Amino acid sequence: MAFTTREDLDLEGKLEIGARRSGPRAVSETHAAEAEARAGADGTRVREMRDSDLERVLELRSVVRWSADPWAFDLLRGMRGVRWAVAESPRGSLSGMVGAVPLGEIGILCQLAVHDGYRNMGLGRRLSSWAISYLRSRGAATVRLYSTRGAEGLYRSLGFEAATPRTVYRLEEARRGVRAPRRTDGHRVSTLVFGDLPELYGVDRWSYGADRSALILATLRLHPGWGLVARDSSGRIKGYLVRSSLSLTTRIGPFVAADDEVARLLLASALDASKEGSPVEVTVPGPAAGLAVCPAHALLREFGFVGREDRLRMELGEASPPRLSGLYHYGTTPYLAT
Ligand SMILES: CC(C)(COP(=O)(O)OP(=O)(O)OC[C@H]1O[C@@H](n2cnc3c(N)ncnc32)[C@H](O)[C@@H]1OP(=O)(O)O)[C@@H](O)C(=O)NCCC(=O)NCCS
Repeated sequence: MAFTTREDLDLEGKLEIGARRSGPRAVSETHAAEAEARAGADGTRVREMRDSDLERVLELRSVVRWSADPWAFDLLRGMRGVRWAVAESPRGSLSGMVGAVPLGEIGILCQLAVHDGYRNMGLGRRLSSWAISYLRSRGAATVRLYSTRGAEGLYRSLGFEAATPRTVYRLEEARRGVRAPRRTDGHRVSTLVFGDLPELYGVDRWSYGADRSALILATLRLHPGWGLVARDSSGRIKGYLVRSSLSLTTRIGPFVAADDEVARLLLASALDASKEGSPVEVTVPGPAAGLAVCPAHALLREFGFVGREDRLRMELGEASPPRLSGLYHYGTTPYLAT
């Protein structure tokens, strides 16, 4: 788990990657924050998390009422490339933590949390700076996060800019026997098998703009056989989704499809396979209402899902390019919701 000497060197040296959305101001702010991350005035140290910290991390997460999906930490911890940092006071107590998930061009800062008794002292900033540095050292041109209301000011001060909120859709009770529409042009839905993954990863990268393969694999490993893939008559992938259930709720995501018809086919099959009566959730990028609403919102409402606006996506660095091709995103990955 520990950084190699080489990675430490990269963290110190490679901060100026890509043309930043906010120009030189954001770059110099990052340098300042980096210095802060190395030497806290009160003696608090920001360092990489160790296995021996896990018990205290759980305690910290329950004190901050998790701040993120409680199951996400376990799922993400096993993923390649993911790193965590903690803030440790001179007396040895853990006062904060953060996660950094590199997905190639995009890096996700997640699970930032500071114990109530240590807030407004700059720890959130130091932990965020640690994660930004690590993600940049792994080649992220864009650092992305999903902010709670209370953390938006902190992230803005680090140069992050608001992108779009996401919407969580929930169906209180899955019903079996949901009638899937019948397509005449030969599309079929089958259970996703590991042999589908190389092609699926390629389609996903093209549609998402970064590499979510490790995240998809981690979810499938926990739930083998819970993925679905839709292919057209020539056998090409036209959509896929993964179901998972680490709590009573079944999550659907990533959920990607070429159009509404394919999405309908996949969603009906997924609901049919879900435990009857259990709640089902899908997180959709973007707001539920507005000018450029993606088709997922109407589709989920058609199936009886009810949406509520969730966290705000914020980004630092290069603006993610608009989607020019690939499949549409009907649902984000669960747990990290990107
Ligand atoms: C959000 C959270 C991580 C912030 O942690 P923090 O350690 O208080 O963060 P910081 O101290 O770096 O910054 C917080 C504020 O204190 C201010 N501050 C920092 N150092 C300060 C100092 N020495 N004196 C006075 N104010 C200071 C910052 O400017 C910032 O103000 P702003 O919110 O108006 O922008 C923490 O409140 C938390 O754990 N919340 C619950 C979980 C959560 O929402 N996590 C975010 C997930 S996206």
